[in-house]
Amino acid sequence: MCGIVGVVSNKDVNQKLLNGLANLEYRGYDSVGMCFIYNKNFRIKKGVGKLEEVHKKVNFLKFPGNIGIAHCRWSTHGGVTEKNAHPHVDCTNKISVVHNGIIENYSELKVELMKKGHKFNSETDTEVIAHLIEENLKGHKIEDSIKLALKKIEGSYALGILFADEPEKLIAARNESPLIIGIGDNENFIASDVPSILDYTKKIVYLEDREMAVLTKDKVSIFDLDGNLKNKIINIIKWDAAAAQKSGYRHFMLKEIYEQPRAIADTLNERIRNNNVVFEKEFALTNEFLKKIKRIIIVACGTSWHASLVGEFMLEELAKIPVEVEYASEFRYRHPILDKDTLIIAVSQSGETADTIAALKEAKNYGVKTLSICNVMGSSITRISDGVIYTRAGPEIGVASTKAFTTQLAVMYLFTILLSKLKKTLNDKQIKDMIDGIRKIPLQLQSVLDEDGEILKCAELYHQKLNSIYLGRGVNFPIALEGALKLKEVSYIHAEGYPAAEMKHGPIALIDKNMPVVLIAPHDIYTYKKVLGNIEEVKARGGIIIAIATEGDKEIPKKAKHTIFIPKTLYTLSSILAVVPLQLLAYHIADKLGRDIDKPRSLAKTVTVE
Ligand code: AGP
Repeated sequence: MCGIVGVVSNKDVNQKLLNGLANLEYRGYDSVGMCFIYNKNFRIKKGVGKLEEVHKKVNFLKFPGNIGIAHCRWSTHGGVTEKNAHPHVDCTNKISVVHNGIIENYSELKVELMKKGHKFNSETDTEVIAHLIEENLKGHKIEDSIKLALKKIEGSYALGILFADEPEKLIAARNESPLIIGIGDNENFIASDVPSILDYTKKIVYLEDREMAVLTKDKVSIFDLDGNLKNKIINIIKWDAAAAQKSGYRHFMLKEIYEQPRAIADTLNERIRNNNVVFEKEFALTNEFLKKIKRIIIVACGTSWHASLVGEFMLEELAKIPVEVEYASEFRYRHPILDKDTLIIAVSQSGETADTIAALKEAKNYGVKTLSICNVMGSSITRISDGVIYTRAGPEIGVASTKAFTTQLAVMYLFTILLSKLKKTLNDKQIKDMIDGIRKIPLQLQSVLDEDGEILKCAELYHQKLNSIYLGRGVNFPIALEGALKLKEVSYIHAEGYPAAEMKHGPIALIDKNMPVVLIAPHDIYTYKKVLGNIEEVKARGGIIIAIATEGDKEIPKKAKHTIFIPKTLYTLSSILAVVPLQLLAYHIADKLGRDIDKPRSLAKTVTVE
């Protein structure tokens, strides 16, 4: 996945690169490196480990220079070694490259280049780019050499490139990996995401696939790979730089869990008017089209996939539209049966997940309408889809997604109301009840957060357990999956999510007195009684029951070892409330175990490779 930042300025850039990288570290933290140009020479400093460790050793701030590129790595090709850390250079040490993505034909290119006498220093795919450019430089100018190299490489890339002999020029290019350009005063930036440079500029230009940019301190020119100059829009970002800081919390994950009442309130804001749901102009889909939809396919990965499963439940239950939820990574390689009355929805926090982008592109090949539910303005997914509904969670930095998930549920719910109204599957009273229900959610979330004491107690008691099971039914089955995923991600404890009744078909064999079983059991007319039965089954086998129940429930506390209460709400909305204790439980357990919560091992926030 990797993170990239680059600056060309009229001042030293080391501090800006360091800050940028610190904000990007969620993308990869195997190793880091920087390259500055000073007196027409490269100064390259890199090391294995997290930014803080490497910075302690090399002190990046010691190196002056008005231009530089920096990289944090999540390894794909080649082990975690200093040699494989970026930047990578050519044989002459005049071309320096940082890269996020995968060069799929790198082996063939490497063999070809080695035959021509190039010596490779690393096992990475990235290094071929530096040598390819070096090779092309024999008969061409710098920009043309890069264009030729880019035409030859297959795969995904976001690149920052420096030439020692042209110390006023920073070159960037992208294909299927995120890269943005920041316009500053007497300085310009490249970066993998917006928050990493928000301290310095809010003026952002989004690079498109197979575009290349040449940045000097006072000019940015963008071309396609045939050299045609592109006219680009400068977007003004509304996010506040402070929103991407920890604000006194020990971890971003905790801060983001606690931000959920605000995030949901922002997501609802101005979208509910006179008991109608109104989305902004980016939504772009007409009522005429929406009334005609006969089927919806939702594509997503990870936590966003879990949110999609909740969306499926809401849309089928209330708007009566058949919905299928697909893993984007599977959908992209299938030959789906799609027609003009199908709507494809892509759900993604980052808007840059490689598989979700590819699934969306696959859908577009069939000419069907696409909608994205996304948290990052201007991200790739939002630019590809016909319409967008933004979750307004604000920047989510913790690798484990929390506020993005609950805001995705809120958007799914709003979209369900809109469709139910258009398709007349619910009457005015039912719509009003739904709207009243979601309006209460921010306050109710606050009271769920107040249950933190009991959750912390569970974490203290059970953080040494090696396994756990999460069970839920109906709209809360995806919440069981999400609770288990959160625990796995940040604590590294094995956890499984199941539909509660499915437990009898296998997982029940695992239950004994050492097995914590988290049961999501809000009071509802659908499955509550059945879940009570499931609780008895777990109890009979000695399992440690942690139940999520509705306030006022008298039955569950009699059976469960611990009961965490959530306020009474509509059944479909119980999922938004029920997930929060599970996020907190995962957080506290990971904290007790001393895990690196915001940067769990092997994970990256945005999976920009397939
Ligand atoms: C969530 O905690 C994970 N980090 C991961 O599953 C994530 O949801 C997935 O990679 C999809 O990301 P996206 O929403 O940015 O597309």
